[in-house]
Amino acid sequence: MTDVAFLETNVQIPSYVKNERLIAWVKEMVALCQPDSVYWCDGSEEEYNRLCEQMVASGTFKKLNPQKRPNSFYAQSDPSDVARVEDRTFICSRRREDAGPTNNWVDPREMKQTLKGLFSGAMRGRTMYIIPFSMGPIGSKISQIGVEISDSPYVVVNMKIMTRMGKKVLEALGDGDFVPCLHSVGAPLAEGQADVPWPCNKTTKYIVHFPEERSIWSYGSGYGGNALLGKKCFALRIASAMGREEGWLAEHMLILGVENPQGEKTYVAAAFPSACGKTNFAMLIPPKAFEGYKVTTIGDDIAWIKPGEDGRLYAINPEAGFFGVAPGTSYESNPNMMTAIKSNTIFTNVALTPDGDVWWEGMDGEPPAECIDWQGQTWTPAIGKEQNRKAAHPNARFTVAAAQCPVIDKDWENPNGVPISAFIFGGRRASLVPLVYQAVNWNYGVYLAATIGSEMTAAAFGNVGQVRRDPMAMLPFCGYHMGDYFNHWLQVGRTLPNPPRIFCVNWFRKDKDGKFMWPGFSENMRVLKWVVDRVHGHAYAIESPLGWMPRYEDLEWTGLENFTQERFKELMAIDREGWKQEVLSHEELFEKLYDRLPKEFILMRELLLSSLWRSPARWELAPERYSDSRLDEHVNA
Ligand code: GTP
Ligand code: SPV
Ligand code: MN
Repeated sequence: MTDVAFLETNVQIPSYVKNERLIAWVKEMVALCQPDSVYWCDGSEEEYNRLCEQMVASGTFKKLNPQKRPNSFYAQSDPSDVARVEDRTFICSRRREDAGPTNNWVDPREMKQTLKGLFSGAMRGRTMYIIPFSMGPIGSKISQIGVEISDSPYVVVNMKIMTRMGKKVLEALGDGDFVPCLHSVGAPLAEGQADVPWPCNKTTKYIVHFPEERSIWSYGSGYGGNALLGKKCFALRIASAMGREEGWLAEHMLILGVENPQGEKTYVAAAFPSACGKTNFAMLIPPKAFEGYKVTTIGDDIAWIKPGEDGRLYAINPEAGFFGVAPGTSYESNPNMMTAIKSNTIFTNVALTPDGDVWWEGMDGEPPAECIDWQGQTWTPAIGKEQNRKAAHPNARFTVAAAQCPVIDKDWENPNGVPISAFIFGGRRASLVPLVYQAVNWNYGVYLAATIGSEMTAAAFGNVGQVRRDPMAMLPFCGYHMGDYFNHWLQVGRTLPNPPRIFCVNWFRKDKDGKFMWPGFSENMRVLKWVVDRVHGHAYAIESPLGWMPRYEDLEWTGLENFTQERFKELMAIDREGWKQEVLSHEELFEKLYDRLPKEFILMRELLLSSLWRSPARWELAPERYSDSRLDEHVNA
C-alpha cells in the first residue's frame, strides 16, 4: 500500500479534533509506525472498562477478585522491563553542552535517524492509540497539554488514571500547543503472530527527549516512567526545560498541607529520590500526640512551582494519580494509601494470592502460605527464603486515582496551586547524614539540596545501594545542564522577597547493627512539625556546622518516650571527619559541571568546610556562657 492509500483507509479524524498540527503529526506517525488501526481515546469510563476487559482477554491483565479488590487488575511485566532505564534515557538538545555532563546526549539529527529506523513499522499488527492528556487541571494557567501516541492499551488505562485524559483535553487544546509524545513497546507483530502478555523490546530501549522541539520519543519499554510519558518525560524533563525558559520550576517533589490545631495551614514540598519516601510522607497520619493536626496530600511525586503575584511560590501537582511503590506499603506504614488502593487500582509486578488478591513484601500480617510471584512462579515463604527470591518485584507498583486518597487536600485541583512555605530535601543515607537540619538561607539551602547524596534504589536499573549525588532528587530527571539548573534555583530565590525555608532530612540512618535508627513513617510528623514551626518562627534551633538543628527538647516526644535523648544524639551526630570527606567529595560533581557551576557554590563549599574544621570556638573558650546549647550539642569531637 502506498502511504497515501494507507492513511486514507486507516486514519479517521474525529470531528472534534480541530488541531491541524495534531492531525498532521498523527498522519505522519501512522505512516511511520504502520499500525493496523488507529484509535482516538475519549477518556470515558466505558473506554477504560472496555480496554481492561480486552487486556483480560489477551492475557495482559488478570481481573482481581471483585469481593477483595473491586474493579482492579493485575499485570506482570516482562522480567527485562521492570524499572526506568537511566542509561537508555537521552536529552537530545541541539548543543551537547546544553544537556550537560549528567545526561546522555546524542546529536538530535542522528538520534532522529535512529528513532525513525526503529519506529518504522514498529506498530505493525497493533492498534495505535491517540491519548490526549493534560498535566494539571484542565484550563489551569499552570497546566500543559500533551498527546501520547502509543501502541500499548496498558499505557492508555494507566494514563487515564495518572492524567486528565481524553476528548475534553482536545476541546481545551483547540488549536494551541501540545507536546507530542510518541511511544511504542517496540514489538511489531507479523501476520498471524500471537502476542505476548507484556510486549516490549528486550534488547533495545530508547527514552529520548528533544527539549528545544519539546517532544518525546520512547521505544522498547512498557513500564512506568519509560512509557507513561506524561510523568517523568514530560512533567519533569521537558517541563524543567520549559520552566527554565519561563521562570518556574518542575520538581521531583511531593506536596502536602499541614493544618495545626489553630486551623493555620502550611504547605510544604519535599524532594526525595525515587523510592525514598515521597508517597509515604505525602500522606502521613500524625501520631496520637498530635491531636488537632491534619496532614493532607496535594501530590506524591511531581510539583510544578511558579512565583505568584504576591511574591510567594505556588505549586500544583500536574498528575491525577499515584504510581506508587507497592513493597513496604501497609496499614502500619501508609494506611491512607491502603485505603486508596482498595478498589479501581492497577497492580503491576506484585504477587497474586490464591483468592485473587494481591500481596507484597512488607504488607501487614503473615505472608500467604502460597502465592504466584511477579514472574508467574509459585512462591512460598520457604521457597523465598531458600532461593532468596521476593514474591513482588522491589519496584512493583500500583496505579490509582489521586481522588481515592482519603486525605487528598481540598485544594489539590486548585488551578492556582497552593503557596509553599518550606522545601525539604532528603536522601537515603545509612550513615553520616543527621535526621534534620535547616539551611541558614536560600542560597545555602540550594547548595545543600544540590549536593545531597542517596543510595540508589530499585526504581531504576543500576547498582542498588550505591551512594550517588542526586541534586534535588533530579539527577535522572533534569532536561538540561545541571549547572544551569542550580543557577535557575538561585535565580528563583533572588526574585522572591521572602523565599521558602529549606530543610534537609534523612529517615534512613542506621545504627551499628544495621537497623534504622529513626522509626520513620508517621513519626516523621515530629520533624515536620518542627519544620512548620520554624517557618512560622515558633521553634527553637541551635547553630551547627550544617545549619540550624533542633535540640532534643525542640521536638515533640509524647508517645515516643522510649526514643531517648541518647539515641537522638546519635541520630543527629555530625561526624567532623566524615563530613569533611563528604564535602570534599562534592568536588566530583562540581568538576563535571565546572563551567556552569554557580560561583556561589565554590564559596559555600569553603564556608562549609571551614565551619567543619575544629577550631577553638566561643563555646569552648567560655563554656559557662554557652553551656546550654550551640555546636557541642551535636558535633562529635
Ligand atoms: P517514587 O515513586 O519512586 O518516586 O518513590 P517515593 O519517593 O514516593 O517512595 P515511597 O514513599 O514509595 O517509599 C519507598 C520505600 O521507602 C518504601 O519501601 C517505603 O516503605 C520506604 N519508606 C518510606 N518512608 C520511610 C521512612 O520514613 N522510613 C523508612 N525506614 N522507610 C521508609
Ligand atoms: C520514580 O522512579 O521516581 C517513579 C516511578 O516515580 S516512574 O514513574 O517509573 O518513574
Ligand atoms: Mn518518583
